[in-house]
Amino acid sequence: MPGNNKNPKGNTSNALSRREFLKGVSVSAVTAAATQAEHLAAQLKDVNDEKIAGPEGAQVTLNINGVKRNLVLEPRVTLLEAIREHLNLTGQKEVCDRGTCGACTVMVDGIPQYSCMKLAIDSQDEKITTVEGLSPDGQLNKVQQAFVECDSLMCGYCTPGFVVNLTALLKSNPRPTEVEVREACSGNLCRCGTYPRIFDAALKVAGVKTKSRVQILSAKDILNA
Ligand code: FES
Ligand code: FES
Repeated sequence: MPGNNKNPKGNTSNALSRREFLKGVSVSAVTAAATQAEHLAAQLKDVNDEKIAGPEGAQVTLNINGVKRNLVLEPRVTLLEAIREHLNLTGQKEVCDRGTCGACTVMVDGIPQYSCMKLAIDSQDEKITTVEGLSPDGQLNKVQQAFVECDSLMCGYCTPGFVVNLTALLKSNPRPTEVEVREACSGNLCRCGTYPRIFDAALKVAGVKTKSRVQILSAKDILNA
């Protein structure tokens, strides 16, 4: 009977013999290896069944400003490149192209994201809003209007990114504090340094009174100065 062995002194014991032990181990090892092999085979099948796009153009459908746009794009094309170069929506700017300046900011399902850091092929099934989508019938939205009234831009290169970002902020938080506005803008750079006026514009939309930090001089003021 297995396990009923005689020890070297001739006594019967219930312990497993070394041979039986090794046989048991090798059976479990073989079983484990077989299970592992089956698992690997299943994973390999999944990988083989996966459709690999590219390197040539692939069909990509983007939902841009509420309109579905069908494009043929190489999988390496970023969302920003798709918007600017393939759809000719040039509002969002390519400045750093590496996720540091925010000039390319779009809304993705209502959340601001850098479009230079996303692949177009991965942006399907998402609602993308560019600055053009904020004023579809030519009417400026409140943030755009406030930027005009507060004179919140100089060269204007960073402006579309700020406008999209602040529109998203004011949708989710209609009465932000100045600190919240500043925090929300921390991913957008303005090299001309118009930050005080940008913050003023956002707070104006929020209906928050600020001490005007910026005095806009008229031609008459300048002449009389
Ligand atoms: S261009 Fe995308 S973050 Fe600068
Ligand atoms: S207005 Fe020129 S970079 Fe901001």
